[in-house]
Amino acid sequence: MSALIALLGGDGVGPEVCEQAVRVFEKLGELYGHTFEIRHAAIGGAAIDSADDPLPAATVELCRDADAVLLGAVGHPRFDGHALRPEAGLLRLRSELELFANIRPIRTHEPLTDASPLRAKHLEGVDLVVVRELTGGLYYGERGRDADRAFDTCVYTRNEIARVVRIACEMAGGRRQLVTSVDKANVLDTSRLWRETASAIASDEYPGITLEHGLVDSMAMHLVTRAADFDVIVTENMFGDILSDEAAVLTGSLGMLPSASLGIGQRGLYEPVHGSAPDIAGQGVANPYAAILSVAMLLRHSLALQAEASAVEAAVEAAVGDGFLTRDLGGVTDTATAGSAVLERLSTTAAA
Ligand code: NAD
Ligand code: IPM
Ligand code: MN
Repeated sequence: MSALIALLGGDGVGPEVCEQAVRVFEKLGELYGHTFEIRHAAIGGAAIDSADDPLPAATVELCRDADAVLLGAVGHPRFDGHALRPEAGLLRLRSELELFANIRPIRTHEPLTDASPLRAKHLEGVDLVVVRELTGGLYYGERGRDADRAFDTCVYTRNEIARVVRIACEMAGGRRQLVTSVDKANVLDTSRLWRETASAIASDEYPGITLEHGLVDSMAMHLVTRAADFDVIVTENMFGDILSDEAAVLTGSLGMLPSASLGIGQRGLYEPVHGSAPDIAGQGVANPYAAILSVAMLLRHSLALQAEASAVEAAVEAAVGDGFLTRDLGGVTDTATAGSAVLERLSTTAAA
């Protein structure tokens, strides 16, 4: 098969981890006879520098033409206090492509038990997915500020809640049939609408699914004390952003977490959950596994290449198991060597 991939490296470690993802595409092309045409475009701080716009029109156009988009990361502290922010490019892209559901799978890796600050008993059997609403809530509500006052508003419509809850229920249907909806319904009106809508969707449309509700504050605790109890967690934009970074601790590092942002249709935007990591950018030490695992999600969701996706995941698992650990995982492997370790194992996992 042949596919067009839009590659938006972005800022900081974004381009560094994407370089390894590109090597994976090339290797898959050789192994399976596919043609992945990879076209680069600018986003974030890099695009502000080159085009004075964190999301140039040409980038949006390429993303619309592409079968899937792979993104590194955006953001850098040098834009703090500026009117144009790198993050605004990513937020606009998610919204323009109507990618309302952000899927963040969290699985523990046995060889990485020691990389997590949590005790092993909290990591056993963890296999959950955070479904984060991505185009509503505080990120997109009316906002403003003057010298001494600022506001951001959180708005959700029933339809925005319903469509993301449906995605969560569909996912749970292929897993352990449990959805945990997370809100702050003891305080917020948007959360009360969220809870009411989630309950109605689950009972009317998904009778086989068990839906439970949790409050976000206690959920933050449950995630690190009894994560194995959860299957699919669905929540609004801001809560999902925070809880998924917290859940990364279960996997050993934020550098292990891939994500898929999906809407209607096959096209999606795939990106590691981590940011541009300015503290380690340019040193060649960033963990590329989240970006490579994002390629696996892209293969599965946008290109329907299940075997290829599983081969990539197995190759990462094998590289980690063989001790190719980057600094964030407590090892000394650099970015390129970790990428090479995956490529070497891909020949074997692809044949399996
Ligand atoms: P961050 O995720 O960039 O980094 C948090 C910590 O994790 C840092 O110590 C970093 O070194 C480490 N880390 C992150 N990715 C890593 C990797 N692949 N390998 C090894 N270590 C890794 O979060 P931050 O420091 O709070 O934010 C930095 C910038 O990134 C900000 O401008 C923020 O807006 C942006 N950001 C972008 C995205 C995105 O593009 N999707 C996501 C989160 C943050
Ligand atoms: C993420 C990031 C983004 C978000 C930022 C960079 C806008 O933290 O993808 O998790 O908050 O959605
Ligand atoms: Mn985030």
